[in-house]
Amino acid sequence: MLLGGTTDPLEAIELVKSEHFDLLILDFLMAPIHGDKVVEEIRKFNRDIYILLLTGHKDLAPPLDTIRKLDIQGYCEKSDKFDQIILLVESALKSVSQMKLIKQINEELEHTYNELKAAYRGTIESLRLAVDAKDSYTKNHSDRVSYYAVMLAKKLNLPKEEVEIIRDGAYFHDIGKIGVPDSILQKTSSLTDEEYSNVKDHPSIGAHILQPAKIFENIIPIVKFHHERYDGRGYPTGLSGENIPLTARIVCIADSFDAMTSDRSYRPRFTLHKAIDELRACKGTQFDPNLVDTFIEVLTDNKETVERDLNIKFIMRKDDDIDTI
Ligand SMILES: [Fe+2]
Repeated sequence: MLLGGTTDPLEAIELVKSEHFDLLILDFLMAPIHGDKVVEEIRKFNRDIYILLLTGHKDLAPPLDTIRKLDIQGYCEKSDKFDQIILLVESALKSVSQMKLIKQINEELEHTYNELKAAYRGTIESLRLAVDAKDSYTKNHSDRVSYYAVMLAKKLNLPKEEVEIIRDGAYFHDIGKIGVPDSILQKTSSLTDEEYSNVKDHPSIGAHILQPAKIFENIIPIVKFHHERYDGRGYPTGLSGENIPLTARIVCIADSFDAMTSDRSYRPRFTLHKAIDELRACKGTQFDPNLVDTFIEVLTDNKETVERDLNIKFIMRKDDDIDTI
């Protein structure tokens, strides 16, 4: 433990600045500056040090408000007996050691939290790559769906945690395609009823794949319900209106918008103008009408960027922060 002492208050400030001390015991009446001024200066760069203020002149002591404002933890009148100061120092040392323990636990928790977060993001990335490898159309499509869904979610002023759920859920909304045969996914001619029924299983397959991992519980609704329709004629469950989770209704619009603006084997991509017309035409049938209005608003507000992105079919980086969208 480092011990230090000085009778010069200005030197005391410099000492605390250059060395680490847990506890500062200082007098109130000093020259050229009083103890409260010393503490005021120290608190500008050190909020942790435990401070005991002593005074021999009761009437000249700083008011209680000042003691609180400066975060002075102990105050004691000097006397010939040292009992009180000894008790105060003992309690100060106990507080300091508890504060250190709490700080250490907090640091360990933060470290563990960051590791978990990194593992979570890594798992999401692996799943996304697995989906991309399966289906050439899905490649990069998930990134774009995620991008548009985040745009819409942010325009709706959803809380940051919910925007992140939407970002991640959109990344692998089609993970269930892993369970659909390649011969069907890559077929360029029209699908038979049986093949189409196979494709329609992908939301349930995706939800089933994610089910065992608790970390995915918030995004499973997106995976499971992203093909539901507002009028109840979607799949796999036929949920309608606001019974479809909001996160899934948002991703559904983003997913459809990206499908409309992508080249497919059976038709060329829509222009932004035509895609907006199509979104409007499907208000209240396929899509939540209020969400469509907000999405069109955000597309129109960012028309130049959206059109540029549609032309180059950008690839969103995997570590893109939602704050940059
Ligand atoms: Fe899908």
